[in-house]
Parts: sequence; structure tokens; C-alpha cells
Amino acid sequence: MFRLDGKTALVTGSATGLGQGIAVALARQGARVILSDRPGEPMEESLGQLRAVTTGDLPEPVAIDVRDLAQIRQGAATALARWGRVDILVNNAGINRPAPGLEVDAANWEDHYQTNVRGGFFLAQQLAPAMIAAHWGRVIWVSSQSGLIGIPGQPVYCSTKGAVIQLVRTLGVEWARHGLTVNSVAPTFVETNLTRHRLQQPEFRAFVLGKIPCGRLAEVEHVAAAAAFLASDEAAMVNCHTLCVDGGWTAW
Ligand SMILES: NC(=O)c1ccc[n+]([C@@H]2O[C@H](COP(=O)([O-])OP(=O)(O)OC[C@H]3O[C@@H](n4cnc5c(N)ncnc54)[C@H](O)[C@@H]3O)[C@@H](O)[C@H]2O)c1
Repeated sequence: MFRLDGKTALVTGSATGLGQGIAVALARQGARVILSDRPGEPMEESLGQLRAVTTGDLPEPVAIDVRDLAQIRQGAATALARWGRVDILVNNAGINRPAPGLEVDAANWEDHYQTNVRGGFFLAQQLAPAMIAAHWGRVIWVSSQSGLIGIPGQPVYCSTKGAVIQLVRTLGVEWARHGLTVNSVAPTFVETNLTRHRLQQPEFRAFVLGKIPCGRLAEVEHVAAAAAFLASDEAAMVNCHTLCVDGGWTAW
């Protein structure tokens, strides 16, 4: 079950962290995975991990800064031209620059929205027509539990993830009849470059662990497994859904 042989996937923000883990999980299931990140991000570590689980050709990474609409158009065109298809898009690239409501400035707001919401939307818009023509496609966002609950100190981030969850619902309805599903995975805290600094602060870590009924952080592999499931044929009837990988945080 959950095999992805013959499928091509593109994962944004896959130089590190959750994107890297998702790329590896999809490759393990048999997908050809195109790594993507901002121009200049080192891709060697992710390429090495993919090489260890891939038998066929390893695609060259495609550089896309998802804040840049021209790079989105160019990157999507390059992936389609080189590989003829992108069946699975994982919109993982994201930032979180915490700032309490009274301190958020316009640059912080724009950065979050361009990266976390606008980029994934327009990349999906570029790639969906080929999926529609093939009558099969998967668009998977990495949203967050922060799209479902409020976390003090990061109002803008939380609102971007709420926006993603609404895009998932709406695009999933629009594209379902063409054989596409649109879903998201909503992780709780995972220790990555995005969160390490905050999670190393004992008070913040205690707050986080106190909110997760399982009493532990999520691991990259937990999130990657959920994404691989959503990418599979077996998940064909899971659409417009946000799958929490949160150990129960959002239940109470
Ligand atoms: N780590 C967590 O606890 C957690 C929890 C919930 C959701 N998420 C979400 O998971 C996703 C990945 O987070 P992570 O923890 O792996 O973070 P990370 O910082 O480790 O990795 C993010 C990746 O995205 C890339 N990226 C950033 N801006 C980009 C841009 N403009 N264009 C292209 N790529 C860009 C970075 O270069 C990096 O490789 C994000 O969307 C984040 O919001 C993370």
C-alpha cells in the first residue's frame, strides 16, 4: 500500500527540515522527487539522502524562491519540461518570525504571506493544469496546528496557516472532479532550524510539552509519513482535509 511508483513529486523548501524528510519519504515509496528551495540553498545533504533510497535517475533540484512569482513560473515550467509531469506538489516552504501583535510591522506581515500563502497558491496554479490533463494529482500543503489554534507571540504565522487550510478546502472542491486531491498536514512542534532556538528555551519547551497530550514533540518522520499517505492512491477519498500530526494538541 501507499506506493508512489511512476509518480513525480516536487517538494518546496526541501533543503532541510520537514521538506527534506517528506522528499525522502516520497522517494522511499517509489516517487521520483524533484527537490526545490531558494536559489543558493545547499542541496547536497538532501540529494545524498535521496540517493540512498532512489534507484532511478535523480532529478536535478529546481531553485524556486516562492516569494517570487517569476521564479515560480520558471521553476514549474522547468520541472514540467525536464520530467514531463509533476503529479505531486508539496508546498512545504515556510517561515515563522514570531512577533507579538503590537510589534508586527508591514515587512514581517508581507514576508509571512508571500512565503507561506501566496507562493504555494501560485505554484499550485502553475502545476494543476498538467495534473488536470492527466486526471490525477496531489497538492499537499504543510500547514500547521497554528492554523487551527492561536499561539501567543505569532499571530501572523497562525493566520497564514489558517489561510492555507482554507485554500486546501476551496481548491480541493474546485479540482476534485479532475482527479486531484488537495490536503494539508498540520504538525505540532518538530525540532528543526525553524523552531530549535525557541525549543531550547526551557520555559517555552515546557509550555509546548505541556500542551501535547503525548508529552513529546513530533519527529520529521511522523509528518513525512502523513504526507506520503496523502500522496497515495489509497488516499483518493481524502480531500480538502487537514491531517493533524499534533499528538492531540488541537483537541483541547
Ligand atoms: N518545525 C515545526 O515545528 C513546524 C510545525 C508546523 C508546521 N511547520 C511548517 O513546516 C514547513 C517546514 O518547516 P521546517 O520546520 O522544516 O523549517 P526549516 O526552516 O527547517 O525549513 C524550511 C525550508 O524552507 C525554505 N524556504 C524558506 N523560505 C523560502 C522561500 N521563500 N522559497 C523557497 N524555500 C524557502 C528554507 O530554505 C528551508 O529549507 C513550514 O511551512 C513550517 O511552517 C513546521
